[in-house]
Amino acid sequence: MSVVLTANNLTRHYSVSRGLFKGSAVVQALNGVSFELQAGKTLAVVGESGCGKSTLARALTLIEQPSAGSLQIDGVEVAGASKAERKQLRRDVQMVFQSPYASLNPRQKIGDQLAEPLLINTSLSKAERRERVQKMMEQVGLRPEHYQRYPHMFSGGQRQRIALARAMMLQPKVLVADEPTSALDVSIQAQVLNLFMDLQQQFNTAYVFISHNLAVVRHVADDVLVMYLGRPAEIGPKDDLYAKPLHPYTQALLSATPTLRPDPEKPKLRIVGELPNPLNPPSGCAFHKRCPYATERCAGEVPPLRAVDTRQVACHYAEQFL
Ligand SMILES: Nc1ncnc2c1ncn2[C@@H]1O[C@H](COP(=O)(O)OP(=O)(O)OP(=O)(O)O)[C@@H](O)[C@H]1O
Ligand SMILES: [Mg+2]
Repeated sequence: MSVVLTANNLTRHYSVSRGLFKGSAVVQALNGVSFELQAGKTLAVVGESGCGKSTLARALTLIEQPSAGSLQIDGVEVAGASKAERKQLRRDVQMVFQSPYASLNPRQKIGDQLAEPLLINTSLSKAERRERVQKMMEQVGLRPEHYQRYPHMFSGGQRQRIALARAMMLQPKVLVADEPTSALDVSIQAQVLNLFMDLQQQFNTAYVFISHNLAVVRHVADDVLVMYLGRPAEIGPKDDLYAKPLHPYTQALLSATPTLRPDPEKPKLRIVGELPNPLNPPSGCAFHKRCPYATERCAGEVPPLRAVDTRQVACHYAEQFL
């Protein structure tokens, strides 16, 4: 198995103005995220709004430079990459956004939009490009006559299929999908998720799949990274994490997820209170004010991410939940 994406202590801070004469403050949007991802595998990233998921996505897709930490894509260190290497890296990592409308050109026919990456990056002839586009359209469940249509003529689900097809045209090593199904009807979500899975199998692409919903990623993930206020709370193999969440925040997220057969033995844990202000995060463990198990230690001491059982957990008392 080959590792195609390695993030090491990836960090991104933003300096934001607090208003006239008040100077600026720093938002720690992403703080020390590390993981390894193998070809054909999926890392799901979950957490509430504002926890840094899109910031992570932008760092992984080279849209923004990290403030600290390092990133390797297919063995190439991004920070030290030459211009030619960076060009290749941009091909190797593609992205699908929540709103496919934003990434599709409303004035260009779908077929031409899908052919564009081939036009820019390959020396294929016009006929060859057309053939590749038609094959990909078929793979994502679009009909040949759709080639001539414009984005507004499609439903939301179809548009997301088009966005996925476009991202896959150059057979990237890594696909980063930021909430790709959250704008879709529940009935369509499952179909689009299945399509993601089919294409992954076919092309052996590594996925970073971002969602605020643990139920959505349950069937697509191999590993899950739970984030809270820019920091990793827990990361590990999906099955273990769902069966026995070790961070109280993961427990709370899972309790909030509806299931068909709720387990009466499992205590329900609610997420209480508001998400803290990222400009003024709580001391110690950022989750302590909402955590039912918090002690004085949690208010004073930042819990480091450490290995517990099969996972890494940032909780002083993780062993208690084994
Ligand atoms: N360009 C920026 N300048 C300043 N602050 C930013 C910038 N981009 C993001 N932030 C802040 O960084 C934090 C993380 O934002 P991010 O968009 O990554 O969260 P998210 O997990 O994707 O949220 P959502 O689920 O709502 O999409 C937030 O507090 C946000 O306000
Ligand atoms: Mg986001």
